[in-house]
Amino acid sequence: MSAPRLSVPLSGTTRLYGLMGYPLGHSLSPFMHTLAFHHHGLDSLYVPFPVPPTRLPEAVRGAVALGVQGFNVTIPHKEAILPLLDELAPEAELMGAVNTVCVVDGRTRGHNTDGQGFLQPLQALSLRVSELPALVLGAGGAARAVAVALLQAGCPALTLANRTYERGERLAVALQQRFPHAQVRAVPLTRAADSAAECRLIVNATAVGLASGQAELLPAACLRAEHIVYDLVYRPLYTALLQTARRHEATVIPGIEMLLGQGAVAFQLWTGLPFPMDLVRQKVYALLTSSQSAQSGQ
Ligand SMILES: NC(=O)c1ccc[n+]([C@@H]2O[C@H](COP(=O)([O-])OP(=O)(O)OC[C@H]3O[C@@H](n4cnc5c(N)ncnc54)[C@H](OP(=O)(O)O)[C@@H]3O)[C@@H](O)[C@H]2O)c1
Repeated sequence: MSAPRLSVPLSGTTRLYGLMGYPLGHSLSPFMHTLAFHHHGLDSLYVPFPVPPTRLPEAVRGAVALGVQGFNVTIPHKEAILPLLDELAPEAELMGAVNTVCVVDGRTRGHNTDGQGFLQPLQALSLRVSELPALVLGAGGAARAVAVALLQAGCPALTLANRTYERGERLAVALQQRFPHAQVRAVPLTRAADSAAECRLIVNATAVGLASGQAELLPAACLRAEHIVYDLVYRPLYTALLQTARRHEATVIPGIEMLLGQGAVAFQLWTGLPFPMDLVRQKVYALLTSSQSAQSGQ
């Protein structure tokens, strides 16, 4: 899926932003930020920077030297970039990962907007995290960001269910030390269904999301109408897990909401302006819906 072409005005004073990752694939960030720049009439450009891991130090120095104002960071650089930056915001330090960099007066400051981006849709539904015992599937970078955000927001009990149990256990131990007020534990992914019964919020932070062709993460029978099911995977818009959850009348949150949320916070950090959420959401949903219809032959 490729985003539609948007015309961008260029001048001698155009400000440059971008995304560093490798490989980059079909990122939605250029589309989202270009719409937001247009909305505010900003003379700014957002471009993909495919940077292989060995060239990350050069790329960061080069971006500063070229006057890039800010950039997002994605797989596989979110952790590797930490020692290359001049300073870190507290949430980036806590998550051990950076997804947004601001360059001010030649100095780089790393932020992590994934946590806030993740929480925004829950806040929009007026849900109190302090009343949401949570089950997080996965133990990679996204699971860590989600778990930290939930525990910081007062989540009382958090279970991590990961395919590689030891990885989940290591993360659970580290989180329990940092957040002693909550109960944090790990279970193997094969036991996730038992934990679902004790939780209100279920988050898929694994890479499993395709509508078909992959084994199901959770048996459908463990999903209930009281559950809020949040899938970080956003292609397809409604993953197999979300489709099943909808059939069980659970509240569902597609991962695109987190992508929009983290982008909104990054945009505000760079420009000081509000992100035009309604406009960008409408365009992004239209784009994902049309590509999903095209793929299913509709
Ligand atoms: N919506 C958003 O804004 C947003 C933001 C960040 C990430 N994401 C999405 O979140 C997902 C995870 O990203 P990440 O950065 O955390 O990746 P990661 O660090 O590579 O972690 C991948 C996780 O998925 C699990 N996994 C992979 N294949 C699996 C399978 N076949 N069955 C069960 N578990 C499997 C891994 O388990 P093991 O430990 O056993 O390998 C691990 O827990 C990706 O799909 C990414 O696109 C979305």
